[in-house]
Amino acid sequence: MAIPTRAEELARQDVQHVVHPITPLAEHERSGPLIIAEGEGIYVRDAEGRRYIDTLAGLWNVNVGHGRGEIADAMAEQARRIAFAPMFWGRANVPSIELATKLAAIAPPGLTRIFYTSGGSESNETAIKMARYYFRVQGFENKYKVIARRRGYHGVSYGALSATGIPDYHRLFGPMAPGFLHIDPPYLYRESDPARRAALSRAENLEQSILAEGPETVAAFIAEPIQGVGGVIVPPDEYFPAVRAICDRYNVLFIADEVITGYGRTGHWFGLNNWNVVPDIMSTAKGITSGYVPLGAVFVSEKLYGGIKASESVFMHGFTYNGHPVACAAALANLAIFEREGLVEHAAMLAPYFLGRLNELRRFRHVGDVRGCGLMAAIELVADAKTGEPFDAAKKVGATAAKTALRHGLLARAAGDILVFAPPLVIDERGVDELVDGLARTLDECGL
Ligand SMILES: Cc1ncc(COP(=O)(O)O)c(C=O)c1O
Repeated sequence: MAIPTRAEELARQDVQHVVHPITPLAEHERSGPLIIAEGEGIYVRDAEGRRYIDTLAGLWNVNVGHGRGEIADAMAEQARRIAFAPMFWGRANVPSIELATKLAAIAPPGLTRIFYTSGGSESNETAIKMARYYFRVQGFENKYKVIARRRGYHGVSYGALSATGIPDYHRLFGPMAPGFLHIDPPYLYRESDPARRAALSRAENLEQSILAEGPETVAAFIAEPIQGVGGVIVPPDEYFPAVRAICDRYNVLFIADEVITGYGRTGHWFGLNNWNVVPDIMSTAKGITSGYVPLGAVFVSEKLYGGIKASESVFMHGFTYNGHPVACAAALANLAIFEREGLVEHAAMLAPYFLGRLNELRRFRHVGDVRGCGLMAAIELVADAKTGEPFDAAKKVGATAAKTALRHGLLARAAGDILVFAPPLVIDERGVDELVDGLARTLDECGL
């Protein structure tokens, strides 16, 4: 009998002991894990040495690319000095102060107060609680409802999950937290109305929803600038300025979930910069450390912070790992790379080439839509590209395409039948060519 390789042994142990998130477990036991062992730039290698382009930058987060020794060095140096120091009761640590100062310098105007978390769900949980708290300490007892959007993804803890608008995440986990409502996003593929009118009608949905509930009961509207997990839904230019005006009209706080769109992904530091719109609260995570270690940061406006501070009560919310020194040191090293290499500008400059090359794939019969912003894009696969008729979901066309892509050197991801892309921001034209060529071979092999 052949002696199992190290990779085979690891795969066996994984199936025996590890419970994977967002994974069909019975099928996983049959097929085994794809073990990623190392990475460099836009590439990763599996435990058997096969190389792939990491087309989703891990989980939309490895913005500076893999293998950055200087981030590892910064973390090691900080861990040696002091690995942990809490932030409760007014205590502080050096990297968390330095990082907040840095974040305030790149923040949208006025969003210069930083509350740390360990990830996107925690950031949204914090943003929602902060919005409710802000109104409560001012005597608005009933202003607690949160309006979110269908197809929105905000995380899996109960507050963030209740804001999430993708039914699969709710099924079998109910009941959701009370006080959350969902309206339609500006998902305009298959929309016959001109984009501008359709966008404004989606924004009007927000106003109608606030009026139907009673503005005195609505605390916040939460939205991703570009919905990521929901299929890279890029709003027309009119949408967010209209949303901002409606929130102002009814004293409703606007929470921007920039967990994916933050830190250069769309060619700006933050997604809403595309439309010069400033939210009241901004949730971030992922790209803040490029995934080298977990960290999130919630940016809060001076006005909101002032309202919270003015009350005599304590904001009874915090996580053990708020402002973790090692994570903050990683974020500082990560942002230093961004600045030294001009990665935000690079993403903006490369975007037309990236989106242009992806658009060439419209020649395939079953490519219904190609859309994106910056280095974030999607290809929607449909049964009939002329009518936009979707495939029968049971056919799992997207999942099959993503699996096939492995054979063509791409670690790819499908959200239903929508292939989503967010490569490390360090990708160049050659990398884009390799990605698009691999994708074309994948679509060919799948008969799409
Ligand atoms: C827009 C958005 N918000 C929140 C989250 C949740 O972040 P985390 O998985 O770090 O909790 C995600 C994760 O993909 C996300 O895409």
